[in-house]
Amino acid sequence: MKTRITELFGIEHPIIQGGMHFVGFAELAAAVSNAGGLGIITGLTQKTPELLANEIRRCREMTDKPFGVNLTFLPVVKAPDYPGYIRAIVEGGVKIVETAGNNPQKWLPGLHEAGVKVIHKCTSVRHSLKAEAIGCDAVSVDGFECGGHPGEDDIPNFILLPRAAEALKIPFVASGGMADGRSLVAALALGADGMNMGTRFIATKEAPVHEKVKQAIVAASELDTRLVMRPLRNTERVLTNAAVERLLEKERTLGADLKFEDIMAEVAGVYPRIMMDGDMEAGAWSCGMVAGLIHDVPTVQQLIDRIMAEADGLIRQRLAGFLTA
Ligand SMILES: Cc1cc2nc3c(=O)[nH]c(=O)nc-3n(C[C@H](O)[C@H](O)[C@H](O)COP(=O)(O)O)c2cc1C
Repeated sequence: MKTRITELFGIEHPIIQGGMHFVGFAELAAAVSNAGGLGIITGLTQKTPELLANEIRRCREMTDKPFGVNLTFLPVVKAPDYPGYIRAIVEGGVKIVETAGNNPQKWLPGLHEAGVKVIHKCTSVRHSLKAEAIGCDAVSVDGFECGGHPGEDDIPNFILLPRAAEALKIPFVASGGMADGRSLVAALALGADGMNMGTRFIATKEAPVHEKVKQAIVAASELDTRLVMRPLRNTERVLTNAAVERLLEKERTLGADLKFEDIMAEVAGVYPRIMMDGDMEAGAWSCGMVAGLIHDVPTVQQLIDRIMAEADGLIRQRLAGFLTA
């Protein structure tokens, strides 16, 4: 399949694996790229730029296909060493960066000078237009359904994607709620040039996370996610568990007085305990409503092959069959 996204990134299929904290290690990124998609290493999961440089080297040993690095700009007082991470990306020869969380304008000149293409993740049309205006090469449009941070507008992809298509000139991928060939064909029909998946890629053989995380996704239905941290305007969609219900109770009780410190126990530094140790009640972890569409744990190659075969069948048979011509 050829779209503006496959052309831009030099990949075979218009499928991207979004950056995921403590999931996006070299093993998963390389598996996605080897299967013809675009794998992405999560920059900040690596504690230092040196560790990121090492992760990039490891990924390159596992694939000769293009892969990217996610750089998430966090709402924190003490910023991570972003210049150091960018140096590691450029010196590591990585040509694609997925930015997220905040306006990446400050970092674009350096990245573009090094021949790096930037796809910025946005949850609204206005942020997507801003990304286009500052020179991003593409955007990843994340609907309300998405795992992680859906923003504060709550516009689902059935509206957000065609709105983005109306407004944008640069290519964009649909993100949030994408799982299979149906998602890909729908995304293309709504005007996107491909799709980005998070949650679906966690439930794959190669995702280097605890088996219990994969089983939790397979067991979950579309009703099992919750929105947390909305009072802090840092909304995150997570899979519900005891810690999440405790957190939501604090939000209800404290109301407008809620501060980040009140919910630290449920959100700060919990990812390694969940993703590595399989301690499923350790805290809140991002998960999309799409969990309701995930029923198995295939290899990444099987998943991507299945998506592309299903999309092909949908376009050639189901959709073409509706045209009586
Ligand atoms: C466990 C998990 C961790 C994530 N961590 C990040 C992150 O660190 N940075 C980021 O930009 N997006 C992060 N995301 C968002 C994904 O890259 C992607 O945009 C999102 O999962 C798409 O929605 P979906 O889960 O419905 O496919 C995360 C998502 C999940 C499920």
